[in-house]
Amino acid sequence: MNLAIVGTGYVGLVSGTCFADMGVNVTCIDINERKIEELRRGVIPIYEPGLEEMVLRNVQAGRLRFGTDLSQGIDDYDVIVCAVGTPPGEDGSADLQYVLEVARTVGRHIGGYTLFVTKSTVPVGTGELVRAAIRRELDQRGMNVEFDVASNPEFLKEGAAIKDFMEPDRVVVGVDSGRARTIMERLYKPFIENGRLLLFTDIPSAEMIKYASNAMLATRISFMNDIANLCERLGADVDMVRQGMGADPRIGPKFLYPGIGYGGSCFPKDVKALVNTARSNGYDMKVLRAVEEVNGAQKRLLFEKFRDYFRGDIAGRRVAVWGLSFKPETDDMREAPSVVIIEHLLRAGCEVCAYDPVASEEARRILGDGVRYCRDKYEAAEGADALMLVTEWQEFRMPDWCAVRKAMRTPVVFDGRNIYNGEELAAKGFAYCSIGRR
Ligand code: UDX
Repeated sequence: MNLAIVGTGYVGLVSGTCFADMGVNVTCIDINERKIEELRRGVIPIYEPGLEEMVLRNVQAGRLRFGTDLSQGIDDYDVIVCAVGTPPGEDGSADLQYVLEVARTVGRHIGGYTLFVTKSTVPVGTGELVRAAIRRELDQRGMNVEFDVASNPEFLKEGAAIKDFMEPDRVVVGVDSGRARTIMERLYKPFIENGRLLLFTDIPSAEMIKYASNAMLATRISFMNDIANLCERLGADVDMVRQGMGADPRIGPKFLYPGIGYGGSCFPKDVKALVNTARSNGYDMKVLRAVEEVNGAQKRLLFEKFRDYFRGDIAGRRVAVWGLSFKPETDDMREAPSVVIIEHLLRAGCEVCAYDPVASEEARRILGDGVRYCRDKYEAAEGADALMLVTEWQEFRMPDWCAVRKAMRTPVVFDGRNIYNGEELAAKGFAYCSIGRR
């Protein structure tokens, strides 16, 4: 089978590489010529464990190619997968211009049956817009070519993307023709061995599954952050509460960890987009509006705890920040809580010394040179009045606390991810604040 994947961002590159690894001939296409040039030389634009090795292996085997022009050899592709970005517009609604441009390109160039699969996260109803865009171009050419559209949302998590793709919990495919269904069954067959679920739905439902799943997960996080904040006020411990709740199989233990708010490229964008889609259809998603509001407040929480600890006397204080990416195992800084925290610190006149194992370069592009980017976690702690644990990278879990204690001017730890033990830190001479714990 020959596959084109348009858009060589996170989803496109990971999906394309994984399909190639399963034996499909894949061409990854992107309009960014520099990116494609680099990929051809084996330079991977994102940090994702295992990806580089997999790209090189499949390029060498001749199953994975890169290009900048979808129209070239378009009739060789059995399937064209669209994985371009859908950034939020001014009002929070997903911007579809890139998706529709790919659809128009397809309509302008195909000469025979093609299956157009949308993998980008797109609002419910986009399948029909894509179909209309392809149809219009074909009509203009006076061509009567058969084609199908399908929706195949992606559920991969950054940092675990390869495993998520190769061993999915479920594959969701929205189709409205038997021919499209047969092709998608063939494409995904190797991924759903061992009884994994390949769920066929209609197209709008597949589009909705993606939004509803992300919105549900975001809701769990904001709910637990609310519970954690209340635990603090009532003298309860959210760790215990979480364990007790998670033992109910209807709730389950995952995604119940309070912290400093969710970030990344999906949750914030998808929650906003769903609220927006609802609004433009005359429906008010009250729960999701609250989810967003709680998340916004939670991103400021660590800064507020720090400010309150020093009773507002914070100008001129040096703060060590451990971790910058929105979560571990990625250099992705999109919507990262670190950005909100650091902007507040800088505005309050604090000095910020930050360290992240991989995201410093990305962070510099967003936060600029007002932050000192350190080579390691101990350098960041040098002379600090407070240490903030912002991203729970493995290497922060068991630091040499004696070295940290010696390096810091005031030994106070603000743990934004509840990874440390307060008693242990107290015994080592630190004051300790976390989220929702006693
Ligand atoms: C998410 C979805 O999990 C994935 O299915 C979808 O395709 C894209 O969006 P990702 O953005 O990579 O994936 O991150 P994820 O690991 O889900 O974490 C999202 C955010 O939630 C992070 O900021 C994380 O710190 C936060 N989080 C997660 C919590 O605060 N508490 C938790 O218990 C879990």
